[in-house]
Amino acid sequence: MPETIDKSNQQAPKFGSVFTDHMLRMEYDGERGGWQQPEITKMENISLHPAARVLHYATTLFEGMKAFRGVDGKIRLFRPLLNLQRLNQSAERACLPKVNKHDLLRHIEKLIRLDENFIPFTKEGSLYIRPTLIGTDAQIGVGVPNRALLFVILSPTASYFDSGSKPLRLMADPNYVRAWIGGAGDRKIGSNYGPTIYVQAKAQMYGCQQALWLYGEDEQITEAGTMAIFAHFINDKGERELRTAPLNGLILPSITRRSILELSREWNEFNVVEDKFTMSDLIRLRQENRLLELFGAGTACLISPVSEIFYRNRIIRLPTKDHPNPLYSRFYKSLNDIYYGRVNHPWGYEVGV
Ligand code: COI
Repeated sequence: MPETIDKSNQQAPKFGSVFTDHMLRMEYDGERGGWQQPEITKMENISLHPAARVLHYATTLFEGMKAFRGVDGKIRLFRPLLNLQRLNQSAERACLPKVNKHDLLRHIEKLIRLDENFIPFTKEGSLYIRPTLIGTDAQIGVGVPNRALLFVILSPTASYFDSGSKPLRLMADPNYVRAWIGGAGDRKIGSNYGPTIYVQAKAQMYGCQQALWLYGEDEQITEAGTMAIFAHFINDKGERELRTAPLNGLILPSITRRSILELSREWNEFNVVEDKFTMSDLIRLRQENRLLELFGAGTACLISPVSEIFYRNRIIRLPTKDHPNPLYSRFYKSLNDIYYGRVNHPWGYEVGV
C-alpha cells in the first residue's frame, strides 16, 4: 500500500510520493453496456489479470490537474474541462472508451471534497489530481480493449523539481527523439513517457533536471520532459517576441501553454508566435545578446525558468535570471493569482458539492 500523508503535517511532500485516503474508480465493460456506476473507495491496490492489455501494450493514458486552497478558503481547479477534453482525445488515440467529461468532473469534485483536508495550506502547495484510464481485458491479442478501468488518485504536493524553485538545466541531445509527425506524441498516453525515462536518467547524470526534446535535422526545440517550452527574445525586427513550438503533432497540447498564449494575446505587449524555434536560433540569439529568457510551463512544474542547456558536450548559459522584469515570473504570478483565488477569473473553477 502507498504511504498516506499525516494530516497534521502541513509541509507539502515530494511530488507524487504520498496519496490521500480515497480514490475514484469507474469500470467500463463493453458487454454490460459500457461505463458502470462510479464509486469512491478507500485508496487501495487494484487487481489485474496478468494478460490485461495495459500490462503488455501500454494501453494507458492519464491527466494531470491540481486543486488549490484559495486565500478565501475556497478550493479551485484550473480549467478542468480542458483536461477532461484532452483525456477524451487521448482515449480516442489509445482506443479506450471516452467519458462524459461533465459527469466525471462532478465525481472528481466529490472525491476532492472527501479528502480536502489533504490540500496543503502552504503558499505553493496543491493537490495533484491524476485521472488514469487503462485497458483491462485479459486478452493478449493486439486489439481494441473491451474492458477498461478509469481511476482518479490524489497526491498533495509542492514543487515538482527537487531543486525547488531554482532555475533548471536541461539536456538537449539530438540523438533522441520523443515524437514524430504522424505519431502519437501529442496525446497524453503512457507510451509517450516510459521511453523518456532512460533519456531523463542520462540527463540527470549531467546534472540536468529534464531532457529538452529536439526534432528534425534543424533541431527544432519542441518541449521538455514534462513541460512546454517558451523563448522570449528580441526578433529580427527589433521587437519583443514570445515563441513556442506549434501544435503540429510533436508536442502535447498543454493547458498551461494555452493559458500563457491566451494571457499574452490579451496583454498585447509583445509578438506571440507559435512556430519553429531551433537550437541554432537559440545559439544565435544568445550570441547576439537578443535572447531574454527560456522557460518551461506545465501543470506539475508550473512555470520553471531555464538557465542552462547541456548540448553537444558543452553548457550554454542563458540569461533568463538576469532579466530585471522577466516574463516567466509575470506568468507565474498571473496564474498563481487565479489558482489561489487572489483574482476572480473564469479559469478558476470553484469545487462544488
Ligand atoms: C503534468 O504536468 O501534469 C504532467 O502530466 C507531468 C507529469 C508527467 C508529471
